[in-house]
Amino acid sequence: MKLTVKEVKEIFKPKLLPIIWRDETNTLTILDQSLLPFQTVYVDLKDVETTASAIKNMQVRGAPAIGITAGYGMVLALRNDRIQNLNDALKELTRAKSILDSARPTAINLAWATSRMLNFAKNAIENGEAKSLNELIHLMKIEAKRIFDEEYEAEILMGLYGLEKINNGDTILTQCNAGGLATGTGLGTALAPVKLAKALGIDVSVIAPETRPWLQGSRLTVYELMAEGIKVTLITDTAVGLVMYKGMVNGVMVGADRILRDGHVFNKIGTFKEAVIAHELGVPFYVLAPTSSFDLKSDVTDIKIEERDPNEVRTIKGIPIAPENVNVYNPVFDVTPPKYITAIITEKGIIYPPFNENVKKIVER
Ligand code: MRU
Repeated sequence: MKLTVKEVKEIFKPKLLPIIWRDETNTLTILDQSLLPFQTVYVDLKDVETTASAIKNMQVRGAPAIGITAGYGMVLALRNDRIQNLNDALKELTRAKSILDSARPTAINLAWATSRMLNFAKNAIENGEAKSLNELIHLMKIEAKRIFDEEYEAEILMGLYGLEKINNGDTILTQCNAGGLATGTGLGTALAPVKLAKALGIDVSVIAPETRPWLQGSRLTVYELMAEGIKVTLITDTAVGLVMYKGMVNGVMVGADRILRDGHVFNKIGTFKEAVIAHELGVPFYVLAPTSSFDLKSDVTDIKIEERDPNEVRTIKGIPIAPENVNVYNPVFDVTPPKYITAIITEKGIIYPPFNENVKKIVER
């Protein structure tokens, strides 16, 4: 069945609203993901500093969601008494971009969104569309909303392409949370096909690894899928090999924080392991990401893999689970080489190997 974006918007209504912009008060409110699923707390972000710290502390997380948040963070940068004229505004936006970009290093969507907002402001001033600070703020709000709307539309299209890979009765293995919490829209990337399948009455279920150490799988994916009424089974990260070996998985669907021109995929730690096992056992392995997650300029060695606080590994929710001060290595992303990937699903179409030829063709379409 071929559906349009408009038809999908009618049949799928997101249950979660993780990022809310209020135009009347110019405030950005986020659902604090560090407290889910035990507490539902919304936090107001009033300036660039609080926005950057919410991204750093993962109160908002997931590549597209931090891009959208940073886009609005650039609007908040303009609400500052230091700004007297449009020249000051550009200086403030440049400062804001560097603060926001340094909040987290691996997902490209962050710098992609701040660059887009900064360039938009420069053009609006140069071509005379923004003649005053108020006009600039007005236009920047529209641009930030456009980033959100484009992301949502891209997710619907990815969902529709991804549906082609799901059969009635399938079970999909994922990793981390690449749902609507991770994208800010309530739909998601890797979870979009599953949600659309459910909305269309197709029987589909998900296996979610807990995703140590931050537990995006057990705290967020499980919570999000249960809220949508989708069957989900939680496993430990160490059970991934067994569930695939036992034939319990028909396909793997994961998101991405950055995809390179040759098809290398940076995503949550544990993704590489799933890809290798899937390849070994002949289970299709799909990556779903909008084209804003592609980095066509960098090489694998250029990308910084974020390492987080060792206490995330030594403890769970503050409870010690290892000797105090044990040496810890806590990388929170890994990189999957292209040979393990069956296809990369984007809003512009499905990219198949050879990725070093096909990524550029589709992304630059
Ligand atoms: O550390 P996180 O929770 O921000 O990591 C999130 C992921 O790795 C997601 O898979 C990725 O950002 C894609 S989200 C649609």
